[in-house]
Amino acid sequence: MLGGQHAEYIVLALKAYKNGERPHLTMQAQAAGLSDQDMKDVAAYFAGLGPAETGPVATGGQVSRGRDKAATCVSCHGEAGISLTPEWPNLAGQHESYLRLTMEQYKGGTRTNAVMAGLSLMLTDQDIQDLAAFYAAQAGLFTAEPGG
Ligand code: HEC
Repeated sequence: MLGGQHAEYIVLALKAYKNGERPHLTMQAQAAGLSDQDMKDVAAYFAGLGPAETGPVATGGQVSRGRDKAATCVSCHGEAGISLTPEWPNLAGQHESYLRLTMEQYKGGTRTNAVMAGLSLMLTDQDIQDLAAFYAAQAGLFTAEPGG
């Protein structure tokens, strides 16, 4: 979900896809054709969409355990997943499955980021499920597609 995401983070993510730092075939192909101005325009659109919504109810891990485990994440991603700096992604309300996937990718090294790589190495599979459940259940990001 991109609705309500920080514009600065969206631009950084698009640049990372374009220059190949962040791997994803579809997104690399999409970003390849975007100029810096295009990226800013797209980011401003998503950042400016509608009010925050609560994410879908988590099915996997446990929200309460996830909240406890998120203590080490608060300094960057905020108390409830709204990050403290616009260059860092908001996690609140994000799809649970996407949150899990990203943490597994950082841990496995297919997505590289110095900070997240180090942190994710300390997370067990259960931690990842609990953290994803917690952030998905917080009010924050939303989808631009009605009913989507
Ligand atoms: C020192 C700051 C910092 C801390 C602490 C931190 N993160 Fe992050 N996190 C980041 C940054 C910066 C990114 C974006 C990295 C990138 O571009 O791949 C990120 C990305 C993520 C993403 C991917 C979001 C997306 O939209 O793709 C997830 C999920 C995440 N962090 C979870 C966590 C969890 C869970 C913790 C605690 C265990 C944590 N982070 C602690 C800075 C931090």
